Amino acid sequence: MAQAGTQMRLAVLGAGKMGGILIEAFVKRGLVSPKDIRATVGHARDRKNGAKGGVSLGSDNREAARKADAVLLCVKPQTVAQVVDEIRGELNEKKLLISIAASVPTDYIERRLKAKVPVIRAMPNTPSIVGEGVTAIAKGKFAEQKHVDAAQRLFGAVGRTVVVDEKNMDAITGLSASGPAFIYIILESLAEGGVKAGLSRELATLLAAQTALGAAKVAIETGHHPALLKDTVTTPAGCTIDGILELEEGGLRVTLIKAVMKAAQRAKELLIKDEH
Ligand SMILES: NC(=O)c1ccc[n+]([C@@H]2O[C@H](COP(=O)([O-])OP(=O)(O)OC[C@H]3O[C@@H](n4cnc5c(N)ncnc54)[C@H](OP(=O)(O)O)[C@@H]3O)[C@@H](O)[C@H]2O)c1
Repeated sequence: MAQAGTQMRLAVLGAGKMGGILIEAFVKRGLVSPKDIRATVGHARDRKNGAKGGVSLGSDNREAARKADAVLLCVKPQTVAQVVDEIRGELNEKKLLISIAASVPTDYIERRLKAKVPVIRAMPNTPSIVGEGVTAIAKGKFAEQKHVDAAQRLFGAVGRTVVVDEKNMDAITGLSASGPAFIYIILESLAEGGVKAGLSRELATLLAAQTALGAAKVAIETGHHPALLKDTVTTPAGCTIDGILELEEGGLRVTLIKAVMKAAQRAKELLIKDEH
């Protein structure tokens, strides 16, 4: 198998929102050349758009898989079975299949394949578009360390990677794959607070976003517990503690905990419930 970043030929099946973001990011970061990517979508109306990140779009999954060293499966969970059945004949032990579909276990895919194809399950998120994504990677039954390494190189070009046990994937989906949406709501709400306090929306949004970015960077770079970092902002009898009291009264903590739990629960049942 060719290594990511060294002329790897990649098929991206399902170049929708997430597949499109990954294609654009891989190309932008020079990881895979546009000429080495074959992307597919389901409907003709999308094919009319012609290209994603300079990559031409088609609809022939088999042809795309045949000409690739690695296949990145980015279709909806409910479409995975159909596409895997379609490309089964094009896959073998030498090709790598990476699925980013939420809810779909590696053994569900492996059972549909004839050969002992190495399968990797990955869960990226949308900040990959600016190189600040995080992708969890888990290996299936036939995948070896070299396949994990290849997936890490690929997703490492668009942010951080973490190698995890597959049993954690639904929780990860609820936290870091759904998480950007939760964070955007928090940003929007913080900005509304700024607007209410008299700031322009533009300034308030910038302040909210940069504050979130800065706080996240401090948490990652220091490795300190968020509670400790919060304490450094909270002066006795100052302004922040008054704001924190409002957050506690509004149940922000419990709401966020429940949001992640609900999303994780949904990730567990997505394939099973929506397939029937
Ligand atoms: N969005 C996220 O933040 C995110 C994060 C992590 C993982 N994921 C996973 O990524 C997958 C895609 O999610 P998404 O949000 O990107 O959805 P999406 O925008 O709807 O993308 C799905 C793509 O699959 C295409 N497709 C449908 N049937 C196909 C077929 N038979 N062959 C080839 N392509 C086909 C669709 O094309 P048409 O529109 O033409 O039908 C569309 O371009 C899901 O499994 C999701 O769990 C998403």
